[in-house]
Amino acid sequence: MPKRIVVLISGSGSNLQAIIDATQSGRIDGEVAAVLSNKAGVFGLERAANANIPTEVLDHKAFDSRESFDAAMMELIDSYNADLVVLAGFMRILTPEFVRHYEGRMLNIHPSLLPKYKGLNTHQRALDAGDQEHGCTVHFVTEELDGGPSLVQGRVSIELDDTSDSLQQKVHVREHQIYPLAVEWFCAERVSWTPEGVIFDGQPAPAEGIQFQP
Ligand code: GRF
Repeated sequence: MPKRIVVLISGSGSNLQAIIDATQSGRIDGEVAAVLSNKAGVFGLERAANANIPTEVLDHKAFDSRESFDAAMMELIDSYNADLVVLAGFMRILTPEFVRHYEGRMLNIHPSLLPKYKGLNTHQRALDAGDQEHGCTVHFVTEELDGGPSLVQGRVSIELDDTSDSLQQKVHVREHQIYPLAVEWFCAERVSWTPEGVIFDGQPAPAEGIQFQP
């Protein structure tokens, strides 16, 4: 059975687009069943509508607590019988209840080589540290922000003339490569989460994640 994927966004949705493209080409054995945004009017919703994917907007500001917002999201996501929840630029902190509910079946992409640079401004932080390498990580979501076990990483080299913007662009290219790949593996049941770490093709994956070879 093809897997049912629900994607959560807050913005432009370029990672969403990469995943939609890979489902439409048949590379991912699954379909995007719905796209949920906490913001109305964002471009990612247009991308979903263009692909005839149902969209849902749940404005967090209309809820009086994080718990009630997350409970409403869970109800909505579960109404689509999601096998996998994909966070693609979803800019809300999730409650422990929400995270536990989707344990082992929720992925996030973070623009750094985790465990480096959890949180925001990752590109500038990599530059400020004088790093020669930077990148992005797809990881399973756990209660620790940007702290769940890594599945796959994509690396870029940092050149002397790189700025935060140029790095962001380079990392985005890698994001659009590794996120569809991670979703492909999940949908093909090649990858699973255990409390001890990620299992890939029956073997423990490296702690920093599988390294994507461009
Ligand atoms: C990406 O940079 C991703 O790493 C971060 O949010 C951004 C989303 O970009 N989590 P987009 O909306 O997919 O274009």
